[in-house]
Amino acid sequence: MTARILRIALASLVGLALAAGIAWWQVRHATQQVETSAAAVGGPFRLTDHTGKAVTDADYRGKHLLIYFGYTFCPDVCPTELSTMAAALDKLGPVADKVQPLFISIDPERDTVAHMADYVPLFHPRLVGLTGTPDEIRAVAKEYRVYAAKAPGSSGEAYLMDHSSFVYLMGPDGKFVAVFPGGTGPDKMAADIRKRIGG
Ligand code: NI
Repeated sequence: MTARILRIALASLVGLALAAGIAWWQVRHATQQVETSAAAVGGPFRLTDHTGKAVTDADYRGKHLLIYFGYTFCPDVCPTELSTMAAALDKLGPVADKVQPLFISIDPERDTVAHMADYVPLFHPRLVGLTGTPDEIRAVAKEYRVYAAKAPGSSGEAYLMDHSSFVYLMGPDGKFVAVFPGGTGPDKMAADIRKRIGG
């Protein structure tokens, strides 16, 4: 009888150890996948800023970048996210000097330099708007895994764009640091940025 109980206890222990091992492997595997895909976010770009100056990613080395992809005709989501970025920067105080906020257009057809120049100061005096040729925009959107396409059913000049909505924090070396999903509040964004860049 005692031997039987021992056998059952031993079998349970082996089962538990196996389950724990599988769970550990799954968590590890999932973490590795996230790290692998995160490391692949970002890359070199060649665009034009809202003052008409040609810029590349290398011009921003040494600063953290807070990047949002959207378009100036966006009725709701883009203005909300850009306001969140601006509020987060204001909450950071002097730490914000280490961060360059960028708004990259995914609608180069309508987002001319002049249009970007009118738009970005509405949100933050340090916000830089970047636009480019359709090819340049396609390339940078691809590097940042940004989805963007004309919304089905939109026509004429008043079309809407469907697009993904993430705020990216990149390091002073141009490498990916963090991503904030759309709808992240300015307090959380500011606290996370502060935690990751120090100060
Ligand atoms: Ni939008």
